[in-house]
Amino acid sequence: MDAGDLVRSALEAMGRAHAPYSRFPVGAAVRSDAGTFIGVNVENSSFGLTICAERVAIGSAVAAGATVVDLVVVATTSSPPAMPCGACRQVISEFGAGAEVLVVNDQGEQRRASMQDLLPMGFSYDSQPGVNE
Ligand code: THU
Repeated sequence: MDAGDLVRSALEAMGRAHAPYSRFPVGAAVRSDAGTFIGVNVENSSFGLTICAERVAIGSAVAAGATVVDLVVVATTSSPPAMPCGACRQVISEFGAGAEVLVVNDQGEQRRASMQDLLPMGFSYDSQPGVNE
């Protein structure tokens, strides 16, 4: 799938977000070595249990066998389009430290960044001496 397909998937998914509390729907689409997967933010009446769209999409990809993610598209209604939150940057980087991130909105605006831009000097498995011994 090309970036345009992922943009359409993320925008379409945004319409299925469960965001009755924030009223801020988010859709995500990730391209991986196991195919393309979508996610939406899933809020909860116990607000802290909310899951972001990017992490739902990454979880679906991993459940299907993905090990590497190379493109993440995030769709919101923000202008300019909103970038992924810090928690999502960390989770994306687990599988997509080299991924491109494309954020879009429903007005046709786009912004692009690399994960290296979004999470410079991030924490990784290699940051934990001894875990492999
Ligand atoms: N949200 C996401 O889905 N992704 C982000 O990267 C930032 C925030 C969601 C969480 C919550 O449901 C709503 O947006 C408002 O914060």
